[in-house]
Amino acid sequence: MAEIRDLELAKKGLEKIEWTEKDMPVLRKIQARFEKEKPLKDVKIGCCLHVTKETANLMRTLKSAGANVRLCASNPLSTQDDVTAALVKYFEIEVYAIHDEENESYYKHIDKVLEFSPQITIDDGCDLVSTIHSKYPEKCKDVFGGSEETTTGVIRLKNMLKDKELKYPIVAVNDAKTKHFFDNRYGTGQSTLDGIIRATDMLIAGSTVVIAGYGWCGRGAAMRAKGLGANIIITEVEPVKALEAKMDGFRVMKMNNAAPLGDLFITLTGDINVIDIHHIKKMKSGAILCNSGHFDVEINLKKLNKICTEKRKVREFVNEYKIDGKSIYVLAEGRLINLAAANGHPASVMDMSFANQALVAEFLCENQHRMKIDVMPVPKAIDEKVAKLKLESLNIKIDKLTPEQKKYLKSWSIGT
Ligand code: ADE
Repeated sequence: MAEIRDLELAKKGLEKIEWTEKDMPVLRKIQARFEKEKPLKDVKIGCCLHVTKETANLMRTLKSAGANVRLCASNPLSTQDDVTAALVKYFEIEVYAIHDEENESYYKHIDKVLEFSPQITIDDGCDLVSTIHSKYPEKCKDVFGGSEETTTGVIRLKNMLKDKELKYPIVAVNDAKTKHFFDNRYGTGQSTLDGIIRATDMLIAGSTVVIAGYGWCGRGAAMRAKGLGANIIITEVEPVKALEAKMDGFRVMKMNNAAPLGDLFITLTGDINVIDIHHIKKMKSGAILCNSGHFDVEINLKKLNKICTEKRKVREFVNEYKIDGKSIYVLAEGRLINLAAANGHPASVMDMSFANQALVAEFLCENQHRMKIDVMPVPKAIDEKVAKLKLESLNIKIDKLTPEQKKYLKSWSIGT
């Protein structure tokens, strides 16, 4: 069983999945080992991820380890319908995801994954985990562990843990160095600008780009916008990050002060109403707003929809709002611009994120009777293994510590 758009799209999806494979050498290597060792034999894995060609390669890897896999979307706009068709037709994976599905269908598809009573959950944003806990709490006892892909999901999980609501251990894949140093920075950086340019065709050079949030994603977007010639303004709430932005050469100010200056606004904070109506009222006519954070809450669209005098779609992914006689453009209805208007992060970074996911699934299975309920880091050995395999795939060799250097690092008596 599956619920997807159109099985006829399978051939195109297969071509995309195979094209992507060449940029995922670490995952391929893990898949080859899994094929022989079957470390996840007969384990039921429920996944809630952006259903892209890169995710398809993770599904293949889990399947070759012997797992039974069900997959639903972690965002209604990121699903690639040709990929879902190929997963069903050529790889016999049960997929419940349709591009641009309504909220009702999105949650129905999460239910489908949970009806299968997964033993491992792989989540991106915590919708799968929050649904199993709130709607199917009895099923939590069948789950021996989970993993979480993104910053927003890890924050939600830590809140569940704090409220003593979390019922099984979860590994924060997002927090692995080989994940967020690369995926969040270079992946989000490139794909965010890619999505904005595809949606608008705008020239970035010479424009003023206001970036809300200077975490790993925000700094990636700032780096790429700067490279394209933009004048960058950063808004932040954390003093250390604000200082880093300043010393990286950017202007830093409050959103209130940035609002009248920006041509393009990008939110990457993970928080709600970072761009609110009082900011929008100060913006220039023609300002473009978009979000690259996980949920569509960062721009106050609820209120904008209520108070605008007119709203119309002016081209794909672009809505014009009339407010106080000005035109404000919002991209992709405030959903992740990089996955809505572009194809998400390139495979080469997803290679490391999903290598972590595959190895963490194996770790959860091996350690199922030893773990306590917690939101825990990816084991260092896995993080380092992923880095080593990636370097190997890039044919990069690095130095090793000499015995003398090892000894020196363990000593305290030698000064100048
Ligand atoms: N998150 C960001 N980019 C992605 C991609 N290409 N595939 C799956 N998840 C993603």
